[in-house]
Amino acid sequence: MSLWGGRFSEPSDEDLRALNDSIDFDHVLYAEDIEGSIVYAHALVDAGVIRQDEAETIIAGLQRVMQEFDSDMFEIQEGDEDIHTAVERRLTEIIGAVGGKLHTGRSRNDQVATDFRLWSMRAAENLAGDVRLLQATLVSVAEAHVDTLMPGYTHLQPAQPISAAHWLMSFFWMLERDRDRLHSARTRMAECPLGSGALAGNPFPIDRQQIASDLGFDRPSANSLDAVSDRDFVADLLYSISLCAIHLSRLAEDILIYSNPVFGFVTLADRYSTGSSLMPQKRNADPMELMRGKTGRLVGNLTGFLTTLKGLPSGYNKDLQEDKEALFDSLETMYRLLPVITATVSSLQINAKAMAAALTEDLLATDLADYLVRKGLPFRQAHHVVGEIVRLAAERGLELTQLDLPTLKSVSGSFEEDVAEVFDFRQSLALRKSIGGTGPDALRDQIAQAKERIS
Ligand code: ARG
Repeated sequence: MSLWGGRFSEPSDEDLRALNDSIDFDHVLYAEDIEGSIVYAHALVDAGVIRQDEAETIIAGLQRVMQEFDSDMFEIQEGDEDIHTAVERRLTEIIGAVGGKLHTGRSRNDQVATDFRLWSMRAAENLAGDVRLLQATLVSVAEAHVDTLMPGYTHLQPAQPISAAHWLMSFFWMLERDRDRLHSARTRMAECPLGSGALAGNPFPIDRQQIASDLGFDRPSANSLDAVSDRDFVADLLYSISLCAIHLSRLAEDILIYSNPVFGFVTLADRYSTGSSLMPQKRNADPMELMRGKTGRLVGNLTGFLTTLKGLPSGYNKDLQEDKEALFDSLETMYRLLPVITATVSSLQINAKAMAAALTEDLLATDLADYLVRKGLPFRQAHHVVGEIVRLAAERGLELTQLDLPTLKSVSGSFEEDVAEVFDFRQSLALRKSIGGTGPDALRDQIAQAKERIS
């Protein structure tokens, strides 16, 4: 029997039930649902709606239902439309008709909004914890490679020398912002809808401040109509997750490129590599491709749910039930991905030799222009001069250092003997010591700062 059967003269169609029921996925909200009900039972006593002994009976019954779920003994029955229905059905079976008093003044609308917010607050914290583990891994791998040189790229074309630690740390900061987004989403969602009723509010003198604080929210929601229909918190989380995945997808893409033998900068541990059923030599980086691929699915969950929200009329609408599968899937996907990405990074072999071998002199063309600037040339002019020199060297099939001083002087009189000192990759890095630069001094500061953030 459904919770709302009184008004109807025939049972609902079986196919409709299959479509309408959410118990298959929302049963994971059982703990939050039962916690909310326990707090609500206390609130009903304080409001003089039920007696203390009735509340005790209800709470003991709820605790038993909780145990049944915890120990996997709860039996879902036909007619258990959703988690709220299932818990109430079982409660009434255990304690009898007094169980029917619990729903006084409450609607599944404020109930589900409360349950799902609580669940999402916890999920945001869990996920932030997983992200933090990856950040810690990035820091520890980076720390060992402050002095490992590699080419840095723009447009995927060789640009300037950087340290491998600098490359790795760039992802630390992306993830730091992701963690910050998860925290602020969590703070924003900490408003308790319970006590909003179906839409208009609760007619009994319940203490919503007390309910909110008992459940671990910061405050009660301010408008009951908004509270039952607001799913911003789901969208916030889906967005935070999507952006985090996009960052990880970019890391994955770098690792895919750098692990290609043409680059050979990094090697994935065997246990995080996959092979080919046909080509015996193959060594594929499937975890990175899955990271990249699943990011599409995560962004899909976000755009799908935003589209669900668009144009909904005021108040609760069943469309909102779509919030759960989207968020459950996104979190499940992240919980599977993150440990693998973290372990892949922590076991990643950084091939300093291959990185060094890829450092070509043209990566120092900017440093050569900077040299001329130090000799007094305006940068624009210096840029042009070095451009000509790079072209000259390319035409003659020579490296920059193979051009002799008279040749350099023929392009600009500002070149002197000391130009030879420019061609030093380590010096190029060391010069970049202002905040955020790839120089070892700046990098050590960066790493110290990062450690503080995650301590
Ligand atoms: N299963 C529903 C959901 O997830 C619970 C709320 C149902 N409310 C209602 N008025 N039918 O949204």
